[in-house]
Amino acid sequence: MTTTSPPPALDADRLNALLGQAVVEFGATANAALVTIGDRLGLYRELAAGGPMTSSELAEGTGTAERYVREWCSAQAAGGYLGYDADSGRYALAPEQAVAFTDPESPAYLPGFFQLALGAVIDSPRITEVARSGAGLGWHEHVHDVHDGCERFFRPGYNANLLAAWLPALDGVVEKLERGARVADVGCGHGSSTILMGERFPRSRFVGSDYHAGSIETARRRAAEAGVEEQVRFAVEPAAAYSGDGYDLVTMFDCLHDMGDPVGAARHVRSTLAPDGTWMIVEPQAGDRVEDNLNPVGRAYYAFSTLLCTPSSLSQEGGLALGAQAGEARLSEVLGAAGFTQVRRAADTPFNIVLEARA
Ligand SMILES: C[S@@+](CC[C@H](N)C(=O)[O-])C[C@H]1O[C@@H](n2cnc3c(N)ncnc32)[C@H](O)[C@@H]1O
Repeated sequence: MTTTSPPPALDADRLNALLGQAVVEFGATANAALVTIGDRLGLYRELAAGGPMTSSELAEGTGTAERYVREWCSAQAAGGYLGYDADSGRYALAPEQAVAFTDPESPAYLPGFFQLALGAVIDSPRITEVARSGAGLGWHEHVHDVHDGCERFFRPGYNANLLAAWLPALDGVVEKLERGARVADVGCGHGSSTILMGERFPRSRFVGSDYHAGSIETARRRAAEAGVEEQVRFAVEPAAAYSGDGYDLVTMFDCLHDMGDPVGAARHVRSTLAPDGTWMIVEPQAGDRVEDNLNPVGRAYYAFSTLLCTPSSLSQEGGLALGAQAGEARLSEVLGAAGFTQVRRAADTPFNIVLEARA
């Protein structure tokens, strides 16, 4: 005779709280597409420039179809991204909303974040497949929104922090850059960090590299647009074998954990640094234990790590898959395994930790 235990009693309040959270997030998931649509159609920019508008006025100003715009506006107002005045039937962006949705130079700029999230979600069926097999999915295999969204997501943070806080936090590096230094920016993607440094330090010479040819093509275009081709050049090269040596500074922005063999890449960095050279590693903000990261920032990063970073690493030789929430202790182990004896946290922000490593 078999006995079965009764199912555990459900706590109705806890269940309702879970369902309430899920309703918010169901709306938020679809809203990633709506923010991207509003950005592409110029709806936020028109509202920011023109003040409160009805959906008809907004549609007319942007050359779009009113019926879609009306629905979009209502969704945005329901989510708190637009204000709505019921008496006039007009929608408006408050100053804070206008900055967050229309100013790409502001550290609060949001459209890139949503574009990155949308691109990652579009590719999620492929992640379902590789999660069965254990295979990887390379950065180069993603839809373009991932590459473009990544640039637009990270660039405002670099604009706000790189020149003002991160480089000055490194020992003696700004002085070298002012005089004229050799710099390798590895895993540079579309090159926003490389170009930013190149603009600020015209006497120095910068080589941005990335294994993804499409990203390097965009980086070259960006450098031409910024007028920094004299001091900045780009190369399609993997981190474990980028060219040159005697670098005063090597930088890696949000990419070490994406690599299959970060220890091999770190060894290569060591072999290409000048004797008193510095390696700056910018990585996602994270505590060392899972329980330290069970918060909104950790949640976002673990999600991106599942969809982008872990599959990227698993697609490459080594497949160490550090994940985007590796934390300082694990990262320091990787650097130590490559022979870096001095590692310290030089700076941090709510989204990033900045490590300085020296041989
Ligand atoms: C999250 S993106 C960051 C890009 C850029 N550093 C930025 O901050 O905008 C990660 C980058 O690492 C690059 N990457 C991944 N594995 C690499 C490897 N083994 N060698 C060189 N680049 C690599 C990807 O192609 C991608 O451009």
